[in-house]
Amino acid sequence: MEIRNKINTLFAATALCAAVALNATEKYHATHLVFTYMGDPSTTLTANWQLIGAMDEIVDGGARVYYDTVSREGDVDAYSNSATGIVFSIDGLTDRKVARVELGGLEPDTTYYVCVVIDGMPVLPEVKVHTIPSDDSPIRFVTGGDMGVSEDTRILLKNAATHDPMFAVIGGDIAYANGKLESVGKWDAWLNFYTQEMVTTDGFQIPIVLAIGNHEVMGGFNKPKEHAPFFFGFFGQDLEKSYFKRQFGENLALLVLDSGHVTKHEAQVDWIRETLKQAESVNYTSAVYHVPLYPSHRDFMGHFSDQGRQYWAPVFDEFSLTVAFENHDHTFKRSHFIKNGKVAKKGEGTLYLGDGCWGRKTRPVDPDLRWYLDVAGAIQHFWVVDVSTDKMVYRAVDIENKVVDVYPQDESGAKIASKRLNEKLAAINNPVDVAESSSLVTTEATSAD
Ligand SMILES: [Fe+2]
Repeated sequence: MEIRNKINTLFAATALCAAVALNATEKYHATHLVFTYMGDPSTTLTANWQLIGAMDEIVDGGARVYYDTVSREGDVDAYSNSATGIVFSIDGLTDRKVARVELGGLEPDTTYYVCVVIDGMPVLPEVKVHTIPSDDSPIRFVTGGDMGVSEDTRILLKNAATHDPMFAVIGGDIAYANGKLESVGKWDAWLNFYTQEMVTTDGFQIPIVLAIGNHEVMGGFNKPKEHAPFFFGFFGQDLEKSYFKRQFGENLALLVLDSGHVTKHEAQVDWIRETLKQAESVNYTSAVYHVPLYPSHRDFMGHFSDQGRQYWAPVFDEFSLTVAFENHDHTFKRSHFIKNGKVAKKGEGTLYLGDGCWGRKTRPVDPDLRWYLDVAGAIQHFWVVDVSTDKMVYRAVDIENKVVDVYPQDESGAKIASKRLNEKLAAINNPVDVAESSSLVTTEATSAD
């Protein structure tokens, strides 16, 4: 009997592989499966994937996801649950279709084994993904922005996955396709990186929360959302708006904002105020967006930074936003606590972390740090954030997967991180003296990035 079961399992697995191969060779190539959140991250997940080469007459059966709390190895009849979604095209993009299925009614803090199906046939191997706890259990995520598709991006993504985050928050300027249909290959490269590298040490997929940046939009700023077809098409989040809120467990509210790309700062103010008001009982509130209110490289009076300080900062101050994750400047920075446009006592204002260097080459910061910055430097990095009832802890991690900053500074590893940061900053400031270390530090001239 046991031998027969093994033979049946082997047959099922072989049949799945054959089915995937058939689609790949004769119809289309299914790829780029990533998870996002269109609803509560504790009880929903959205599966997004693409069908390269799919034409209208081929994909007509819709998208379906089969899922269960135990592995069924792609045997669609064995899964306890399924959900139906949509297959759709992006206007003008003729080489593929996009599939999106929302899974609802999930149990919090639970592993789901997921099999994506087109026309009744599995098109990718089963994957596993874990929902977010709904209680006060600790939460870990990684965040950063300004990635691109260089080998540095791949390495930093691989590093990020080793920290076993529950999800990733990306603050814009992701694939650098600029919303142009002819540049979709950049998204292919980025999605290949993400799906290949962003898998935890236990083999879990890492869902993504994405904020929009100028390089998601044809024209960069003040454009209609139709100028960001990939951002809205490839990732099911809020389908109408470029700003939204997600709650992660009892302790963290995250506002995903648009720093003027398809929605102006001013137009989001009432929503930010109302959302932070509703989140007043949550221990920690956070925001992620692209253009920094407190830039570390660019001009402090840059238009979109100024807009952020004019329209958003007063609301952040009113509700004591815990932390803002900023990007766009291609540096590493941690601000002082800031409130009312001034340095505040520790814990009384908002901490601004950034500045978007999760793959792009670095830009320099001023030799004398600006008044609002505690530390900053030309360092590629991402942030690992731990949230618990008692505290939020932030760790910046570099391309060698070493921690270069820990806040609060009485947390474990802070002294070693500070030593490493100082060594790296010395290498940047004295590149001739430390030529051996120059591979750690890369700079580029300011551009329109
Ligand atoms: Fe940018």
